[in-house]
Amino acid sequence: MKRRDLLFYAPVAVAGGFFAWLGVRTYNLRFRPRPGAGRPTWKEGPKVAVTRLGEMGVWQAKPFLYPLPLGELKALLLRLPEPAPGGLSLGEEHYLAVSRICTHQGCTVNYVPDPEAASILYNFRYERPFLGCPCHFGAFDPLLGGKAVYGPPRYPLPRLRLEAEGDTLYATGHEVPLRPMEGS
Ligand code: FES
Repeated sequence: MKRRDLLFYAPVAVAGGFFAWLGVRTYNLRFRPRPGAGRPTWKEGPKVAVTRLGEMGVWQAKPFLYPLPLGELKALLLRLPEPAPGGLSLGEEHYLAVSRICTHQGCTVNYVPDPEAASILYNFRYERPFLGCPCHFGAFDPLLGGKAVYGPPRYPLPRLRLEAEGDTLYATGHEVPLRPMEGS
């Protein structure tokens, strides 16, 4: 190949590679199918009081720690406006508890109550509050039971089983597999 041809083809190859990378990245971030959070399989665990019924408002979140043999699992309880898969509904009160360990690479996810304010940071506009991971800006939807809806994570956040007794809500176990701590 002549030097003049090389000067022409090299930038074309670089540009082609860039657009191919951009296409794959956009597909992975936004359109790649991700498994839903269906009916969970529970593993029995310790009974931990998380909140009193009626104490939390809709779209409020409460972090808590759930004891496991290898340490404490960071978890989050949310009160939702409607039932979510794997959550607990008591009349008009709907709850979901999820692990805060991101199923991508294990960072701690945070509750993002104002999706509009976070849309620039995440480069992702969502119609309702979500759970966001600060490491690579993955997002999970609590109304879909913690399903991954944006970014690198593929799997949903594992859920914790909720049970009510008297006026108290307890976490009494967790979903298996407990990604990424157990299986992938
Ligand atoms: S560790 Fe959460 S998005 Fe990568």
